[in-house]
Amino acid sequence: MKDQDSNDSIRMSRRDLLWMGTAGLVGGSLLARTPTALGQASAQLGPNNEAAYVPRPRAPQYRFGVGATMLNLDGRQVVPGIAVNGQYPSPEIRVREGSMLRIEVQNTLPNEPTSIHWHGLLLPAGMDGVPAVSGFPIAPKRVFVYEYPLLQSGTYWYHSHWRLQEQIGMAGPFVIEARDEPLRVDHDAVVLLGDWLHQSPYAALAALKKGPSKPMAAGAKMADMKPDLADIEYNAFLLNGRATQDPWTYSARPGERIRLRIINAAASTYFRLRLDGHPLTITHADGLAVEPVTVDHLQMGMAEIYDAVVTLSGSGSYTLHAAAIDGSGQAIGVLHTPDAAAKANLAMPTFEGRALSYGDLRAVAPTTLPPGPARPFTLALQGDMAKYVWMINGQVYPKSDPLLIRQGDLVQIELRNESLMWHPMHLHGHFFRVLQGAGERAPLKHTVNVAPRETVRIEFSADNPGRWIFHCHNLYHFEAGMARVFEYEA
Ligand code: C2O
Ligand code: CU
Repeated sequence: MKDQDSNDSIRMSRRDLLWMGTAGLVGGSLLARTPTALGQASAQLGPNNEAAYVPRPRAPQYRFGVGATMLNLDGRQVVPGIAVNGQYPSPEIRVREGSMLRIEVQNTLPNEPTSIHWHGLLLPAGMDGVPAVSGFPIAPKRVFVYEYPLLQSGTYWYHSHWRLQEQIGMAGPFVIEARDEPLRVDHDAVVLLGDWLHQSPYAALAALKKGPSKPMAAGAKMADMKPDLADIEYNAFLLNGRATQDPWTYSARPGERIRLRIINAAASTYFRLRLDGHPLTITHADGLAVEPVTVDHLQMGMAEIYDAVVTLSGSGSYTLHAAAIDGSGQAIGVLHTPDAAAKANLAMPTFEGRALSYGDLRAVAPTTLPPGPARPFTLALQGDMAKYVWMINGQVYPKSDPLLIRQGDLVQIELRNESLMWHPMHLHGHFFRVLQGAGERAPLKHTVNVAPRETVRIEFSADNPGRWIFHCHNLYHFEAGMARVFEYEA
């Protein structure tokens, strides 16, 4: 009998193991020069004194080289970036639920650490990739092997968790195909959204810290101020790494069903999405199945993920718009039928009809958590725009106290946004229930938007021991302090 897993890893190794790093890796093993399935590669390994690490046969393997590279994503300026295997977006990981996954990451940067976080994955804390929380960063010229079982299915992503590397090129899609997929479609495609700067994000952050870019009018009070939609002025917005002048295109026949796995991988941009002439049927939120709900448009915070199924209505070319919420620009993709040329509609979209809201999200089965001692937290999300410092309950990460929990606790969190900006709050290592009217079918998410002055309640079961960061996924808010660590007490 043909073994499905080993087939998969061979297929993946041909398609995805684009090794572009320098030679010499993992204690001088042959792996660097033989990008084949592990079963084959491990047979060629000689004695290896440097690492006690023993490759596991038949595990899918990816080999990533993190390095400095020049990127010209919008065709207007060449910008220094940091990328995996020289490409943006980072290579698509596509694996099967239930298998073991191994990713070797070599840091080829001469003098900067790196670290990769697998966003939305339920994995052991040591594989979570958060320096100073769950492990060490990968030092320059070093290799780290991430290895963990795939306990779930769905659409996720991964990105650097070191400083602002995510903004300059380190983000990619991570798809785990279900062992048993109930959703029938003809096509399956990732749509990864991003934002792009010509200037250094470190310079942009330094400018924010020097003072508000939009000075407060004399006499204006906090209470009169309008919510602030974006801090950073971007040069371009990206869909699958492409700006509007050369958009991503995809071809399918009329009547065919396309599953779009939409990932907001932007560093600090909220997007509103719609597809010209078509409704979108949302089937998954943050990787997990929900009762399908059909809408005309939807808003996505940073790190949120929705799978949307579309059925092309007839022959033609249809533009998928992802407009930055402050109206400063858009990213587009073009779906078209084979008989029609892909023709981009560059007009800024308007958003009419039904919008997706959290109230529409219902899990496909009850998500009630096992009973446990209640551990309540009230967390106030706060900002000091003058100094550009972001806080949770007055504390600025990393100078902040851990939030102590115990295995088995039912952790109940009230998030109170006391600021004028949106905060997409993300918890590592767990899914939480978003308590917004769906009762026992409350949806499970890993990232939840909290609007200005809004209060959102979430809860999770403490079932994955370790130290886990909980932070705003606006990269600049995170870098400026908006995070806390949940720490399991022994
Ligand atoms: Cu997308 Cu701390 O992560
Ligand atoms: Cu924030």
